[in-house]
Amino acid sequence: MRFSVSHSFSSAAPASAVSPRTLRSALLFVALTASAATAACSSADSPAGNGTTPPVTGDGALVDGGVILPQAPDIRASALDADLKAAGLDPANLPEFDALIASFEGGGPDAAKPVMTLFATSLGLECKGCHSGAKNAVPTARRNIVAGMWNKFVREMRLKQGGLLFCDSCHQGKATFLVREDPKGLGAWMSTNFANGLVSATGAANTCTTCHGDPFNGPFLDVWAATK
Ligand code: HEC
Ligand code: HEC
Ligand code: HEC
Repeated sequence: MRFSVSHSFSSAAPASAVSPRTLRSALLFVALTASAATAACSSADSPAGNGTTPPVTGDGALVDGGVILPQAPDIRASALDADLKAAGLDPANLPEFDALIASFEGGGPDAAKPVMTLFATSLGLECKGCHSGAKNAVPTARRNIVAGMWNKFVREMRLKQGGLLFCDSCHQGKATFLVREDPKGLGAWMSTNFANGLVSATGAANTCTTCHGDPFNGPFLDVWAATK
């Protein structure tokens, strides 16, 4: 009997090839390393990355070594509608990000706080998760991503199911939440939640291309980070 084991981390791969982007992927690495160790004999005679597609289950995919990876929860209506109104904003008619930030000027150090607290809550971050250094500035790349999230997602898109689309709709208390270790499962999650769960503010449908462009660019937030 011959085992065909497809490992993204073969036992020969140096540990430095793995970038533990999140604690979750670090934990996954431990799990995969453990399973790679037990499967080392059988994987030695099968080519690494032999293209075997992992079987997909209802809640996530069974990937290397039988580790089940559920995807993020589905996106949902924001719970922060009333808080946005209390911060003086009309959720259905939010200003451009630059105008929002400009509106805080002259209002003293606390003017920005109500909205900023909603960012922090939505992403599960403290203020210093975005602000750093002596002047509490936001590094340019991060600032550009936040501005893009506000302008291109929150302002320009709507939940097809109705209810408010805000940062917490997608983030649900986490700065990062995509389960990238399972690209097939992630593609299905994107299809359900982003391509079919969101429409533009004008009612137009979304496709993968709306966000990822054509040709398809997976990690397109790198482009956002570099663009004001
Ligand atoms: C998700 C990232 C994020 C979090 C979390 C966050 N902020 Fe901000 N904050 C920003 C961005 C982006 C700007 C705009 C910065 C700019 O335009 O240069 C900003 C602007 C501000 C400003 C206006 C002055 C300035 O720096 O431009 C204040 C004051 C502020 N934040 C305070 C806070 C406080 C207090 C918290 C915690 C309750 C917080 N922020 C949490 C991203 C964040
Ligand atoms: C339509 C869904 C959606 C909405 C709405 C949304 N985001 Fe995001 N955001 C994402 C996705 C997807 C990522 C990539 C997450 C990952 O890497 O796991 C992301 C990433 C980010 C990141 C980078 C996190 C990191 O450390 O890599 C920041 C900061 C961020 N969003 C802030 C915001 C803020 C602030 C809001 C509200 C103004 C917001 N987002 C609204 C989908 C959304
Ligand atoms: C509303 C915007 C939006 C739509 C529509 C969308 N995505 Fe995404 N997708 C994102 C964001 C944001 C990220 C994180 C990008 C980054 O990290 O730079 C992402 C990441 C991904 C990734 C991981 C890329 C990587 O290299 O890590 C895959 C795969 C993906 N999407 C597939 C799809 C597919 C397939 C579709 C269509 C069914 C789709 N997406 C539709 C916003 C979207």
